Amino acid sequence: MDYFYYCKEELYCEDVPVSRIAEQVGTPAYIYSSRTVQEHFHKLKKAFSAPGRAPLICYSLKANSNLAICRLLKSAGAGFDVVSGGELFRTLSIGADPAKIVFAGVGKSIAEIKYALQNNILMFNTESFQEILNINLVAQRLNKTARISMRINPDVEPHTHKYLTTAKEETKFGFTIPDAYKIINMLNRFQRVKLVGLHTHIGSQILQITPYLKALKKVLPMIDECRRLGHPVEYLDIGGGFGIYYRGEEAKPAAKFARAILPLVRKAGCRLIMEPGRFIVGNAGILVTKVIAVKETNRKCFVICDAGMNTLIRPSLYDAYHRIEPVRKMKDERIKMRADVVGPVCESGDFLGKDRQLPPVKAGDYLSVFSAGAYGYSMVSNYNSRPRPAEVLVSGNRYKVTTRAERYDDLIRLENK
Ligand code: LLP
Repeated sequence: MDYFYYCKEELYCEDVPVSRIAEQVGTPAYIYSSRTVQEHFHKLKKAFSAPGRAPLICYSLKANSNLAICRLLKSAGAGFDVVSGGELFRTLSIGADPAKIVFAGVGKSIAEIKYALQNNILMFNTESFQEILNINLVAQRLNKTARISMRINPDVEPHTHKYLTTAKEETKFGFTIPDAYKIINMLNRFQRVKLVGLHTHIGSQILQITPYLKALKKVLPMIDECRRLGHPVEYLDIGGGFGIYYRGEEAKPAAKFARAILPLVRKAGCRLIMEPGRFIVGNAGILVTKVIAVKETNRKCFVICDAGMNTLIRPSLYDAYHRIEPVRKMKDERIKMRADVVGPVCESGDFLGKDRQLPPVKAGDYLSVFSAGAYGYSMVSNYNSRPRPAEVLVSGNRYKVTTRAERYDDLIRLENK
């Protein structure tokens, strides 16, 4: 469910015609629907709330760290899942409650640990023995006690892209169960860390429920064992990963996941933490791009756009499919062309879509790349010295440029002249 729809052949975001934004703001541009963000958040929260027990939803801002979106989610009651000092800085800059911030990631530096401890975040989701040692040391220096959880790698197959798989033993993430037990058994020696939770995040863009259940069946018994060893485990963080559909259908309802997962979690007697990213923002954003040229060769037709792998890297990096349609549709939808929709970057891997059926488009037309709200702008680069695009947030019949497009002088801003 989202608020991008066609009315009289014209694409709208909520009540605003997308072509109007493209004309006024320029392209490429990311356009987000605030209502879609809010509804996805509420759907998830409602689905996973048991009577008297709401989950703590820590929005994973790596999916989209736009401050305006983070503010919307903060007002809705969200906490945040951060993976770097920079992400923590973003959340603190909007006045997020540190007691709702969890910090994940395999490589937290001493400086990042210090920054997070000074700001009293809820907990560190730890991923290595060295990290626990470092947290203990920094906490000692600051005369604090750090709340930690341990990220468990339960070795399950989430059936997603291999780069989005994070809980197979061969991935770098978390502790294997035997390793976790070894550490849990000696944690009492570290005076400045307190084990308050267990964490697992099995991957991203997961459309099946079974991998979650398999992971939980391995992690849940560990909670009792931790408690038996004197660790007050209060939180179970099941990570993120709920998939969305990229081909136009509805995403799997959150309620379906909840019905399967909640009964297991309830038995653990923990507060549930979730770290959704894509589920909340994925369908809430589009990328609007302008056609620069249409080029036919002997072999193919190319629709060359002003957005490419520098603007949206998912097709190039994961072979990800994003629906692409003109912002203004033709009355007669039967006439189609087949083309690769490509960007301006000097690499053959620079494409937004391959072998797509499109109505005949021409230079100057706007195209919308759908489901681009997650891992779109947050993975933008300046490759080929192309300025970053603008970000626009629509609410009802109003829109706001929340991030201006970069200019050429932004490109050399950080270099010593
Ligand atoms: N928690 C942790 C510890 C994570 O590593 C991630 C994502 C999430 C939560 C949020 O996952 P989500 O709910 O968004 O699936 N760039 C890739 C996705 C990488 C996901 C990395 N970790 C893409 O464009 O598909």
